[in-house]
Amino acid sequence: MSDHIVLTGRRSSLVLERVANGAPLWRHWGARVTPGDLPPRDEQPLSFSPDVVVPLSTAPGFGLGGFGQPLLTAHRDGRDFSCGWDSCEVEANETQLVIRLSDSVARIALEQRFALDPVSDVLTISATLTNRGDGPLALGSLVPAILPLPPSSKTIRSFTGRHNAEFQEVREAMPAHGWQREERRGLTGHGGPAGLFVLGDGADWHHGPVHAVQLAWSGNSRLSIERDGPGWTLAAGEWFAPGEIRLAAGEAFTTPELLATFSPDGLNGASANFHQAIRSRAPWAGSELRPRPVHLNSWEGLYFGQNEAQLMALADRAAAIGVERFVLDDGWLRGRPDDRSGLGDWQVDHAKYPDGLEPLADHVRKLGMEFGLWVEPEMVNPDSDLYRAHPDWSLHIAGRAMVTARNQLVLDMSRADVRDHLFDAIDALLGELAITYLKWDHNRHLATAGDADGRASYHAQVAGSYALIDRIRAAHPGVEIESCAGGGGRIDAGIATRVERFWASDNLDAVSRAIIQRGFLAFMPPEMLGAHVGASPSHATGRVQPIEVRAGVALCGHFGVELDPARLNDADRDLLAGWIATYKTHRDRLHSGQTWLGEEPGLLWQAVGDPAHLILFVTIIDPPTDRLAPVRLPMLAGDGDIGVRLLGAVDATTATYSASWLANTGLPLPHMAAHSIAMFELKAA
Ligand code: DGJ
Repeated sequence: MSDHIVLTGRRSSLVLERVANGAPLWRHWGARVTPGDLPPRDEQPLSFSPDVVVPLSTAPGFGLGGFGQPLLTAHRDGRDFSCGWDSCEVEANETQLVIRLSDSVARIALEQRFALDPVSDVLTISATLTNRGDGPLALGSLVPAILPLPPSSKTIRSFTGRHNAEFQEVREAMPAHGWQREERRGLTGHGGPAGLFVLGDGADWHHGPVHAVQLAWSGNSRLSIERDGPGWTLAAGEWFAPGEIRLAAGEAFTTPELLATFSPDGLNGASANFHQAIRSRAPWAGSELRPRPVHLNSWEGLYFGQNEAQLMALADRAAAIGVERFVLDDGWLRGRPDDRSGLGDWQVDHAKYPDGLEPLADHVRKLGMEFGLWVEPEMVNPDSDLYRAHPDWSLHIAGRAMVTARNQLVLDMSRADVRDHLFDAIDALLGELAITYLKWDHNRHLATAGDADGRASYHAQVAGSYALIDRIRAAHPGVEIESCAGGGGRIDAGIATRVERFWASDNLDAVSRAIIQRGFLAFMPPEMLGAHVGASPSHATGRVQPIEVRAGVALCGHFGVELDPARLNDADRDLLAGWIATYKTHRDRLHSGQTWLGEEPGLLWQAVGDPAHLILFVTIIDPPTDRLAPVRLPMLAGDGDIGVRLLGAVDATTATYSASWLANTGLPLPHMAAHSIAMFELKAA
């Protein structure tokens, strides 16, 4: 038997060394290599260190002479706090690896699974820990694997955010000691998924080594990087509240999946790998995603002040400009004139809709549009019939005041009776109205997140939400779902297997959105990016922006409208209809192939498609301090000519340049003002 295990992807490899009875040791995770005979390891103990060197393995233990980040921390009433494996079985082929480990002293067993997708180059890693002892095992932490980062790593690119300011990029140097990001709000968070990119020597958007991870989980998380020898280690997994995870004898706990990738092609290469992986896990995987219909969402047009006549008139105006899916947002519930009451009572407000929602849904369908509906299943207002009937159904901690947010509490999704109740309510709506689309909202973070037993219930909350969504999808396979959480608070690869679309932000200001959407595209493909044309002045920022800019930025994702077209002047309404037609013409290209991001002094750009046929967006954020630099498009390197067309609500100029000119010298730009966007089509001539 060979002493090493190799998983080989398209552009990456993972090489591990087998060792007697312990977890395999990391020898390489990075560019594709043919390892041959493994070079020797440095087994010389450092001074003032244990006499036996403990090299980095996939599953480092704790307390036995290795001092780096451990895979897990656990104990039995304070005992069995150390961990070290004394038996190991490995099953491996070219792309899959299963490692089974056990510790006969701590009486635990671990199964780690690695699968390297040869197409996307994304490693999917998960682990299951089993308590083989006779007493309960308290789990402090458990991650799918500890990953190595090479000594040449230079920069961490991560994201932070809040409501209306999601996915704000942060770049930091590799730490001298450690770096961490913990999410304890019980939700993925407005900073995007628990994920990051590590840029190696010389890496940029297009070139150079990049390691990246994202956790497929919609709850608490912990990302940490720690200096370890000449390099660093990376751990990404769930964050557990005190006492949250206790395994009874024989019980097992499985981590969320971690998606990890290496690309030699810079940040764009790593994101392209993630996009492929997300597409292969998406609800439509294995079949073609049907063209993403143009949305009109009622929220910013009407908010709570709605009734049947207004909605029907809005639907007429939506259909007239080319909208294909009409989504009725919050405000349709009985007893919910605003956000202070009614949440949890999933019945229609007959004062606003005397005959229920059927007449509106019929009207929308007769106009040739699909009908979609907003729901927020996990939530309840204390002022609701549901809360009055079942006050015990909300997450709470005995003896402590409940913490409301947006006047609402969170239902305990770990309870089967709560899930059954919600399933019946949503199932009835979907059955009665032939709805083809749900916007699934979640408008607060978790606090006082205790279950009926008084234990922290963050993990169980996410598992319960997933179970409910899965059950609804199984019962209504034709219904698409959009994940929303006060804008983009629940965007991650865990829920991405259950939804077709994400609402990226409640901030529709085109300039803010351009930044938010670039962060989104680090992890998720553009066809899942809900992007709407909002009103001007923007409701989030008060900034005034022309319709072309708002439309151009929305074209970078799954296009929609979130305003009442009646409030536009005739010229702007015509322009919006023109942009909708442009989106329909180009959406196949916009929603397939690869996405590249880049920048030149004074501008940001995004290209989508393939080198033979690209759509390019160029965005100016701040007033340029000089003439704009041409946009270099490295993916076009090669022979041949490229026809370039400036697109708009009305198509404009065309020109032809050589591909190598565009790659190396760049596309010359027309004059562009601050806060503007230009859209080009580039086709091999
Ligand atoms: C928050 C969402 O992000 C909005 O789009 C809207 O659906 C509101 N909730 C409705 O309450």
